[in-house]
Amino acid sequence: MSSMLNALIIGAGEINFGSVEGPWNHTVRLERILGPRLRVVGLIDIDEARAKTALASKLDAQATHAAWVDCQLFRTVADAVLALTQEKTPQIAVVGVPPFARGTDVPGRDLEQQLVSAFPGCALFVEKPVSSGPEDACWRVAKVLQESRTIVGVGYMLRYLKAVQMIKKIITENKLVVMGTNARYVMAYEYARKPHWWDKTRSGGPIVEQATHFCDLSRYFGGDVRLPSVVAHSVQHNESPGQLSAKRFDEDAIPAENRLPRLTSATWKYEHGAVGSLTHVIALHGTTYDTEFEVYADGYHFKLVDPYSIPKLYIRRPGLAELETHTFTEDDPFHTELATFIDVVDGRRPSSDILSSYEDAVKTYELTWAIRRASEQSAVGYT
Ligand SMILES: NC(=O)c1ccc[n+]([C@@H]2O[C@H](COP(=O)([O-])OP(=O)(O)OC[C@H]3O[C@@H](n4cnc5c(N)ncnc54)[C@H](O)[C@@H]3O)[C@@H](O)[C@H]2O)c1
Repeated sequence: MSSMLNALIIGAGEINFGSVEGPWNHTVRLERILGPRLRVVGLIDIDEARAKTALASKLDAQATHAAWVDCQLFRTVADAVLALTQEKTPQIAVVGVPPFARGTDVPGRDLEQQLVSAFPGCALFVEKPVSSGPEDACWRVAKVLQESRTIVGVGYMLRYLKAVQMIKKIITENKLVVMGTNARYVMAYEYARKPHWWDKTRSGGPIVEQATHFCDLSRYFGGDVRLPSVVAHSVQHNESPGQLSAKRFDEDAIPAENRLPRLTSATWKYEHGAVGSLTHVIALHGTTYDTEFEVYADGYHFKLVDPYSIPKLYIRRPGLAELETHTFTEDDPFHTELATFIDVVDGRRPSSDILSSYEDAVKTYELTWAIRRASEQSAVGYT
């Protein structure tokens, strides 16, 4: 067995400890990947009660007790650095707190920089989006991470899907040039009840917070985007097509100017000439989302359906009238992204195997803001 791996968990919330809303749960993945190697040395959360509950559930279970028995609770990185002995220095930190706490160099919103100075050499796994602050501040953080040679992975897990990698492989093997990408994300909103999610000043809005995964996938295939080329339109909350009948929270409590658009439709040019498009809609009732992502190239059409649950990939190739269909059961991109990150930390794989670097994730963040701004500018005069 290889040596123990010290892990610091930041955030006692849903991404790290699970949720009824989705399959994410980074600590369960770490337990599965590392088994007896995992030693969680600390859990940092400003909400002490939440952190206590999260730790108690791990200590209560026989299967996870050993990995968590040394875990200390902290409110801040500064508290952790004072308390953790040399032997408990973290080798990885999983940063699963809301984006307002990170991705900038503003004190209090600078978790990455705090971690780099407190624990040099500690690898960081950071959730998406990289921040909710200004994009130029994210670039300064990217520089600090690069100069400190910190290993960083960002949680754009869809890149690790087997279906996504199959598209990549076919594109590479056939030397295809991507002509366009088309992303469609239709959200089921009936049970989305967290008021802060419906306030774009707090969540970032549906493109920056949610469609970010599809913007990232678009960039993964289309490459860098010419940001000034982004055009977008929206249906706003106060327009007649934007009336929603199945809301289960009090939207009136949110200032009108902060409420979410119901539909955002955007197009852009990639640097190499291809065209990207995205439609994000808050429209469906119930709980099932409707998500599709397409890539076009000469002779080829790839259509990825339902990447968040059981992904299906439809491929049309030259010379074949029939669609090829691949269904990917048992594919867990959350597991693959963390397993890859740990392999890189352990030196078993090169850092280029991390599919979402910090710099790249900042570019996705820039694209999402460009879409949000373009849609807000074009809405003026209609609402
Ligand atoms: N990749 C995915 O599919 C996916 C899924 C869910 C969440 N996320 C991302 O994970 C991040 C966290 O989301 P969540 O759902 O876990 O949120 P959450 O609200 O459930 O939990 C966040 C926790 O962070 C704590 N916190 C806030 N500021 C802090 C600070 N400065 N220092 C320490 N702790 C702090 C809060 O007290 C809370 O317990 C978000 O960026 C979200 O977009 C990603």
